[in-house]
Amino acid sequence: MSQTNNETPTSGTPYGTLPSASPLPQRKPVSLPRLAEMRERGEKITMLTAYDATFAAVADAAGVECILVGDSLGMVCQGLSSTVGVSLETMQYHTASVVRGLQRVQATAWVIGDLPFGSYHESKEQALRSASVLMQAGAHMVKLEGGGWTTETVRFLVERGIPVCAHLGLTPQTVHALGGYRVQGRGDSAALLLKRQAIELQDAGASMLVLEMVPATVSAEITVQLPLCHTIGIGAGKGTAGQVLVMHDMLGINLGKNPKFVRNFMEGQNSVRNAMAAYVAAVKDGSFPDDSLHAW
Ligand code: KIV
Repeated sequence: MSQTNNETPTSGTPYGTLPSASPLPQRKPVSLPRLAEMRERGEKITMLTAYDATFAAVADAAGVECILVGDSLGMVCQGLSSTVGVSLETMQYHTASVVRGLQRVQATAWVIGDLPFGSYHESKEQALRSASVLMQAGAHMVKLEGGGWTTETVRFLVERGIPVCAHLGLTPQTVHALGGYRVQGRGDSAALLLKRQAIELQDAGASMLVLEMVPATVSAEITVQLPLCHTIGIGAGKGTAGQVLVMHDMLGINLGKNPKFVRNFMEGQNSVRNAMAAYVAAVKDGSFPDDSLHAW
């Protein structure tokens, strides 16, 4: 019998079917009010990076609340030596891929699109144009790096209805200026500057703040001072409102040596989904990060 073009496939589509949406009971779409409720009841927020449809859907099915389409894709997907070479078009492509994957499984995750190097540095207007590209690709929020000079840009975007996640501490787009991937905010004056910038970003309307490679005591103090802006730590200790890791790192498929703040959640698991679920469970029950191993 010859096959017809409209024959209905009997066992899934080719090239990988997406996982069904999370079996967790009563999961509602993640939103800013829901994140605030989680924070209020002391529940840690979980975030992972994802750059394509399938991994985003798997992360959602594993219970991850926030998916960051990070410009770390420059390193883990494109093979670049830093995030500096990532373009806005690339971020648009990956954001749209992630969003399509999530939509296909009626997923609930909150999607953050990372504004790449050079796409928001020139002016507030340039930042708005770039942020619009990622929002129109389906992101719920954009992320940008830096404090002080970014404050007015954050205010400008938030006033125009674009939720913003800021990023302080080790800001990878400025790795050359920082002299490498080093801990930031060490010492009284550096810690004070970080705290001041964090408060300014909250006052400007940022509703999330990634703190990367910041001493645990400093990020815990910042978290207490930011009731309206949820701190998400990566190498910043357990005192933040939530945690984020780069997916490839936590799955143990990083080509180089993992940084100290990473735990390989694939160990002892038989699937990517279970590894991600183990990450969610460990963040929620406070066993990850362990400040004696993963923090400064
Ligand atoms: O680009 C990225 O993945 C990030 C995380 C490291 C927070 O900014």
